[in-house]
Amino acid sequence: MSNVYARSADSPPRAVRARGSLIWDETGRRYLDGSGGAIVVGVGHGATEVTDAIAAQLASVGYVHGSQFTTEAVDSYAADLATVLPMKDARIYPVSGGSEAVETALKLARSYHLARGEDRPVVIARTGSYHGNSRGALAVSGRPSLREPYTPWLSGTRFVAAAYEYRCPFPQAHPDGCAAEHARRLADTIDRCGANRVAAFIAEPIGGATTGACVPTPDYWPRMARVCRERGVLLIADEVMTGFGRTGRWFGCDHFGLRPDIMTLGKGAASGYWPLGLVACTGTVHDAQPANRFVHGFTYSHHPAGAAAGHAVLRLLRGILGGVAAKGDRLATALSAGLADHPHVGDVRGIGLLQAIELVADRSSASPFPRRRRVLEQVTRVAADDGMVVYGSTGCANGADGDLVLLGPPLVTTQDQLDTMAAKTIRAITEVLPR
Ligand SMILES: Cc1ncc(COP(=O)(O)O)c(C=O)c1O
Repeated sequence: MSNVYARSADSPPRAVRARGSLIWDETGRRYLDGSGGAIVVGVGHGATEVTDAIAAQLASVGYVHGSQFTTEAVDSYAADLATVLPMKDARIYPVSGGSEAVETALKLARSYHLARGEDRPVVIARTGSYHGNSRGALAVSGRPSLREPYTPWLSGTRFVAAAYEYRCPFPQAHPDGCAAEHARRLADTIDRCGANRVAAFIAEPIGGATTGACVPTPDYWPRMARVCRERGVLLIADEVMTGFGRTGRWFGCDHFGLRPDIMTLGKGAASGYWPLGLVACTGTVHDAQPANRFVHGFTYSHHPAGAAAGHAVLRLLRGILGGVAAKGDRLATALSAGLADHPHVGDVRGIGLLQAIELVADRSSASPFPRRRRVLEQVTRVAADDGMVVYGSTGCANGADGDLVLLGPPLVTTQDQLDTMAAKTIRAITEVLPR
């Protein structure tokens, strides 16, 4: 018996070493890390620049409470990060992960309005979304299978449809008119809540864990942002998965010229070396209330070692970012070439090194496999047996059914490794779902 409360029924292999885009288990088996864990590892495994920075920070100041001290690590990281964020006078609140960042962002949005004399209780989110597993973050997440056991605790959110181009909720308007339709629905939803009732609209600029690397049409974000601005609704861009170079730019927002009021970050921020999440807000949001009036805080927020890790990752990313778009194109091209005519591949999509393959039972109707067939689990297992780690997601089609294979390898993955990753992914899919 293990004393670990395991995350899955299968017993996973025990990892003993990881370098670059490779992981070894205790039997000596080698795996290509096609997903950087849960789309986390950007600068690669075993980056001594990061481990050295964390060690040096722990040796000087290991921990101080954020309300009692600041540190050079936190101050200099925030100053450097602010230069790449798509917002004016960014203020950064470091936390310990994506869900904590989302909790913080939601409370910040409400506090902002309260400080301005408006009690806005409602948050609007999107049906095809994932924002985390803590209660507040789950309340704004649209993934039914994760919400279901906790439904009595999840309230106060209104949902609009996600921009899911493969299964566009407005097929009659698709592709040229669907962004306008999304914006109209968002405006209607806000207006139906009543004047000054909606605090924020939270969404992933590019769909991640739930809709799988869904890139909206170019006019989607300008239209959605305008609706929010006109109604005083804060726009929270959740870039936990898409931030820090994953999509070929610093942030997903950068592809659309989107300038959110609040951003949530995590995963690639510290590339897995430290459990780091971040909330960034504009100077305007920050200045609406005195700092000590924001009723919030965690024991481990503003952690100096997290800041040292994040800063070391940021420095490394400056040298890596320029090559990500081309690597993403190479991976996408290889996946499309091998899968475009596969009868059970509905869509191959993505941007940069965030790519997804949507598997379907029937391509002409885009009907998904029933969940009980556990297609994704089979593909994941076959790939692992072949020394390849992929990430996945289920429920994209209707909340329960729908199989997505997600690839998000470290941004330092070599071109040869990307080709091998594509080949292994194609092989696993074809073995589980013969042509
Ligand atoms: C967009 C988004 N937000 C929030 C989260 C939650 O982050 P964490 O798992 O670090 O709590 C995730 C995790 O996948 C995510 O993809």
